[in-house]
Amino acid sequence: MKTLQRTLTIIKPDAVKKNAVGDIIEQFEKQGFRILAMKMLEISQHQAEQFYAVHASRPFYSSLTKFMSSGPIVALALEKENAIADLRKLMGATNPASAEEGTIRKKWASDIENNAIHGSDADDTARFELSFFFAGYELAQ
Ligand code: CMP
Repeated sequence: MKTLQRTLTIIKPDAVKKNAVGDIIEQFEKQGFRILAMKMLEISQHQAEQFYAVHASRPFYSSLTKFMSSGPIVALALEKENAIADLRKLMGATNPASAEEGTIRKKWASDIENNAIHGSDADDTARFELSFFFAGYELAQ
């Protein structure tokens, strides 16, 4: 039986500023992800701290949360078989210097902070992250 999985992705402020939103969404669709919900918004540094709470003890936490609140972002709920792993493959390595050809970060990321896109890394984080940005009624049936 095929099991559909959901994941949360964020097109980060650097990619929005580069007008990369359309290109990145096109890649989601071409790779077979179904868009269940999508919104453009700006979050405060406090909201970014809540979203990235798992990284609170990291040295880059303050810089990361400042960056994530520095401009508009686009959050999407995506669905596909194996969505979490497949999205991470499409995104490429966190540090674009190590990202493979054909990945979103290879094309659009500038450095490890300005790295264009976020994707959930596991089932439990996907649940938390989806509910952070979307209420159940906002997801397509
Ligand atoms: P993301 O997938 O959004 O998850 C956490 C983010 O922290 C990650 O992408 C990077 O943008 C950022 N990050 C991870 N490691 C570092 C680092 N060493 N320096 C700065 N930012 C980092």
